[in-house]
Amino acid sequence: MSVVAVVPAAGSGQRLGAALPKAFVPVGGVPILLRAVDGLLRSGVVDRVVVAVPAGQVGAARSLLAGRPVVVIVGGSDRTGSVRNALHAMDGASGGERAHGGERAGTRGGDAHTEDFGDIVLVHDAARPLTPPELTAAVVAAIRSGRHAVVPVLPLADTVKQVDGDGRVHGTVDRSVLRAVQTPQGFTRALLERAYDAAGSAATDDAGLVEALGESVHTVPGHASAFKITTPWDLQLAEMLLARTPE
Ligand code: C5P
Repeated sequence: MSVVAVVPAAGSGQRLGAALPKAFVPVGGVPILLRAVDGLLRSGVVDRVVVAVPAGQVGAARSLLAGRPVVVIVGGSDRTGSVRNALHAMDGASGGERAHGGERAGTRGGDAHTEDFGDIVLVHDAARPLTPPELTAAVVAAIRSGRHAVVPVLPLADTVKQVDGDGRVHGTVDRSVLRAVQTPQGFTRALLERAYDAAGSAATDDAGLVEALGESVHTVPGHASAFKITTPWDLQLAEMLLARTPE
């Protein structure tokens, strides 16, 4: 069973406040997107990557990722739309019946329409560039062992309160049953496609769409280094971690 990783990288990065789209912002001198894709490929378990970038950045992404088994497409107006475009592009490329959802931009030679886009699909935020390759391998191993949907999770360190619109506390949530969810999230391709076919509005993660089908989602231990770069603080943290760990 081959593995394709979908990398939604079409966010504007408004909360980061950078001049460039977030995926192209350098961390430790290397664009976030390049680190994310190379981390996936370094796991040794990913055969191909489909990257969704903002319209107008396809050329830049192709150049950045040249020489890698990567296809670049145009993302959507939200994360769900970007992943949906990637799934459509994969189906178009492997001869499936779906409509073509995204502008394709292969970075390798050859006939993209004969490429194999996999039975296992990972979805991994470009915004998590320091994700250890071992985490990707663990998610794929869990799918290969028979799970159909797998997410990496971490326990919560902070106490969690429920609040209303005025910021008044209405209760304390039992944090022992809560987990923070990371990516890559892994799925059998058939289940993820079914989840996206049924999806109504935008979801913050892909497993949520699988849950909405009533299907089981399983967990593997996440990793602190798989944190998402959202704010300037996160970027600074990533810079500091890279400075402490020579590559
Ligand atoms: O905004 P946030 O950090 O939650 O986005 C998570 C991931 O989804 C990022 O890698 C971002 O580039 C991607 N995204 C996307 N298309 C959008 C919005 C976000 O691919 N329209």
